[in-house]
Amino acid sequence: MPTVLVIDDNPSVFIALEVLFSLHDIRTLSAETPEAGLAMLEQGGIDLVISDMNFHADTTSGEEGVVLFRQIRERNPDMPVILLTAWTHLEAAVELVKAGAADYLAKPWDDHKLLAAVNNLLELVHTRRELLEHRTGERHRRDALAHGHDLRGLVYADPASEALLTLALQVARSDLPVLITGPNGSGKEKYSEIMHFNSPVREGPFVAVNCGALPHDLIEAELFGAEPGAFTGAGNKPRAGKFEAAHGGTLFLDEIGTLPLSGQVKLLRVLETGRFQRLGSNSERQVKVRVVSATNADLPGMIAEGRFREDLYYRLNGIELRLPALAQRPRDILPLARHFLPDGRRFSEAAERALLAHAWPGNVRELRNVVQRSALLSIDRIEAVALALPVLAHAPASSTPNEPDRSMIEAALQRAGGVLAQAAAELGLSRQALYRRMDRLGIARD
Ligand SMILES: Nc1ncnc2c1ncn2[C@@H]1O[C@H](COP(=O)(O)OP(=O)(O)OP(=O)(O)O)[C@@H](O)[C@H]1O
Ligand SMILES: [Mg+2]
Repeated sequence: MPTVLVIDDNPSVFIALEVLFSLHDIRTLSAETPEAGLAMLEQGGIDLVISDMNFHADTTSGEEGVVLFRQIRERNPDMPVILLTAWTHLEAAVELVKAGAADYLAKPWDDHKLLAAVNNLLELVHTRRELLEHRTGERHRRDALAHGHDLRGLVYADPASEALLTLALQVARSDLPVLITGPNGSGKEKYSEIMHFNSPVREGPFVAVNCGALPHDLIEAELFGAEPGAFTGAGNKPRAGKFEAAHGGTLFLDEIGTLPLSGQVKLLRVLETGRFQRLGSNSERQVKVRVVSATNADLPGMIAEGRFREDLYYRLNGIELRLPALAQRPRDILPLARHFLPDGRRFSEAAERALLAHAWPGNVRELRNVVQRSALLSIDRIEAVALALPVLAHAPASSTPNEPDRSMIEAALQRAGGVLAQAAAELGLSRQALYRRMDRLGIARD
């Protein structure tokens, strides 16, 4: 139940307010002196203060109320304070409202007005507290993920990314083969590093093979090595393959969907037995490698068409990490964009809106390229034009027919984790317009 502390030397004020508030499920506490009031505040659990301006029958200046207000502010900068004052102290009360008191009402007060003011402030306190808890929770989770892990400079803010990273870090500890899937530029390679550098074999080598870049006739030699003269161009020295190089560590098979069927068969055999032969050699070699593979191809679709071996698919896919497209994790966009921006540069608000509105078919790589190019073309602040993104298809903010109301704004702020630019973009408002509306509705900015 919300709790209001009434600080007033006149007990009848407390009695009247207690009756009024109890009808509206608000608990009322009372203190008859400023000292008692401050002591109660110290104990916590109070959401709002209603304070008198004079605490002695023989004083009328309101000076005591001013002092008390300052003391409350000093100890508790966010505590909403409503001043209840005789008409004679109205001027002092107005000054205090300028100094941050929430409101003032003249005695005798109007119950209806007082209750409306109290309810508004309690709602604000509640929303602010929820937002704070939400942010604190986010920060704790973020610290927990960063603690004792090597995130390879991964930038993330979206809940979808947080969930994926949490899973990735769990999976990294196991020795399951991991298949990382996701569209172009979504961070598959980055996650392959996260897999290795948080695994039990992180001290071992991390060897990446881009299956797409290997000429078909060299795949075997690349993966398994070759003895001199094993094939034309094999050279005259024995050569170790990637499997041997990755012994005791991680082998990252990138673009696994491009491996031809002949290579797939050979790969399957090593994965099943851990054994293989160098090209042109009869002796078997044995290695222990953690296999992480990645693809942007639709492997199940390829299996259906006979272009990818189903048994290999299950071998590689001990667990799948599915990276969402950037557009599916919008809260990552601005943090990533700022991360790619050289120090000391920043985006204009219109540029941030444009970044949030773009669909990013090339995902994080496209974002990085757009940001870096725009930084070359700009001096200090990056304007929307420098991003050279396609113009928005939908109507600009000023012609939004339905003005967002309090609940829409609060919901958007919540979703955006308090990031105003993002909430503004979601609501189709400029940041200034959102500020103005928040001020009008009394929604705190922090
Ligand atoms: N969350 C992130 N934080 C920081 N940098 C990132 C993040 N995601 C991707 N990057 C960077 O974006 C670029 C593209 O990412 P990456 O190469 O990992 O994508 P990919 O999924 O392997 O792409 P492709 O399908 O084209 O191979 C890289 O420079 C990478 O470091
Ligand atoms: Mg890649």
